[in-house]
Amino acid sequence: ALERTFSIVKPDATRRNLTGKVNAMLEEAGLRIVAQKRIVMTRLDAETFYGVHKERPFFNDLVEFMTSGPVVVQVLEGENAIARNREVMGATNPAEAAEGTIRATFAENIEANSAHGSDSAENAAIEIAYFFSGSEIVG
Ligand code: CMP
Repeated sequence: ALERTFSIVKPDATRRNLTGKVNAMLEEAGLRIVAQKRIVMTRLDAETFYGVHKERPFFNDLVEFMTSGPVVVQVLEGENAIARNREVMGATNPAEAAEGTIRATFAENIEANSAHGSDSAENAAIEIAYFFSGSEIVG
């Protein structure tokens, strides 16, 4: 089915000027960038966005990292976009990510792993609505 998912080019990738290279990999995977903006997340944005992880030991570091520089938030559209995006990103830990994936190619470590992608249709809808209004998404 035609789906939309939410994606972030994380601060480690924007710092190394890799936004275009990440976007090229997304597009080559059949995903269309139907909304995109470069922002700096506030602490509240990051804490809200990663709320499900607030009890995890890495939560504070993760919030620090996600607010440490610009990110590019995106809405991606395509056939099975959620699974396709997760496939092209690769595993969370770049050491475990398949060759040719965004994280295997660019990620620095399990935290600074260059990309985020929604893990379900339900979360995609929540994440998209947090960062984008309907009129900013042009399919
Ligand atoms: P993401 O897919 O955005 O979801 C949660 C993020 O937490 C993950 O990518 C990483 O950036 C970060 N993270 C840091 N340490 C860990 C860990 N041990 N396990 C999972 N995620 C981690």
